[in-house]
Amino acid sequence: MNIKQIEDKRFMRTYKRVNLVVKKAKNQFIWDDKGKKYLDFFAGISVCNLGHCNDKVVKAVKSQLDSFAHVSNLYYASVQVKLGEELVKRAFPGARVFLANSGAEANECAVKLARKWGYLNPSKLGNRYEIICFNNSFHGRTMATMAATGQKKFHEYLKPLQEKFIFAEFNDINSVKKLINDRTVAIMIEPIQGEGGIIPAEKKFLKDLRILCDKNDLLLIFDEIQCGVGRTGKFYAFESYGVKPDIVTMAKSLANGLPLGATIAGKKCADAFTYGDHGSTFGGNPVSCAAALAVSKTMTVKFLHNSSKLAEYLRKKLEVLKNKYSIIKEVRGVGLILGIDLTINGKSIVNYCLEKGLIVNCTHDTILRLLPPLIITKKDVDRAMKILEEALKWRMEILKK
Ligand SMILES: Cc1ncc(COP(=O)(O)O)c(C=O)c1O
Repeated sequence: MNIKQIEDKRFMRTYKRVNLVVKKAKNQFIWDDKGKKYLDFFAGISVCNLGHCNDKVVKAVKSQLDSFAHVSNLYYASVQVKLGEELVKRAFPGARVFLANSGAEANECAVKLARKWGYLNPSKLGNRYEIICFNNSFHGRTMATMAATGQKKFHEYLKPLQEKFIFAEFNDINSVKKLINDRTVAIMIEPIQGEGGIIPAEKKFLKDLRILCDKNDLLLIFDEIQCGVGRTGKFYAFESYGVKPDIVTMAKSLANGLPLGATIAGKKCADAFTYGDHGSTFGGNPVSCAAALAVSKTMTVKFLHNSSKLAEYLRKKLEVLKNKYSIIKEVRGVGLILGIDLTINGKSIVNYCLEKGLIVNCTHDTILRLLPPLIITKKDVDRAMKILEEALKWRMEILKK
């Protein structure tokens, strides 16, 4: 049996995998088991923002492995503490951090912290626990984060769901206002809905959410798991919006390919947890922390500026394609988190690109999702756009027949 057959026989059927067996990956490139080279415009769903096996990250990981891989969170590990300080300093004054392993766990921590804070800051009815989330959102696959996800397809067969996540319309402040009551404790939002089809929040909407939270003494939680770590041109996506949340959650690219999640909470709620309230055996693993420190040190203002310039270059090229090919309805996103909304199913275009050596993704059937590593060059953009244009032309010709 080959790899694909063994996987099909032995693994639970959770992933509908693409026909690509990865042999090697370096920077913006992937090679398959037959030696074919691909330009990667997906970066493992926004995980390898510095590219695969980034030299600085590999060096930091190797060096940490030479010291120790794990010591238990009962002890101090300097690399973990240094990373925590780095994340907090980049976020907001007076913040505290909890380190986990994944995005869902970072969000679980945010939900638990908000609920604990809701006990400590009750309304006239008593403790507060209800969290306003948004339709079309995605917050993870654990029971709580799945319940907080505003898409029914993720809830099927899993009821009863974890209670008290209620849903407003994204970019509609009135729909949020209508849901606020004496039990509301927080509002949780992706500044840019990722899995939901790369839908950016409007700046005014996030600013209005901030005002609403301040007025009603609520916590504002930003899930930056897909759109954070430099993707919008700033380290935190909230910096691109000029709106400070009370809690921000990070994961995916935080350690550029190693598992790590972070929940960073500002002054308002950072002290709600006390000893024993939360924990994780592997959370903040020292090797992952070493990788994440290398990521943060690499993402300087200059680095982020350069990647923003590249993002502008790519965006312009995509707009040209949009004006040329009527199957493109809209190009949207911020920085290097981009969606191409099509009038047709995008799967055949993804497959065409793959065949020609370009990796892109399609979400919600019709939205091509581009999440290239932030280290791509103009040459990479030109090559990707050439392949994408060929694919669009090919698809349009089929439609005409
Ligand atoms: C916005 C957002 N939140 C949470 C998650 C869950 O992260 P993880 O898969 O690391 O648990 C994801 C994953 O795609 C995500 O995009």
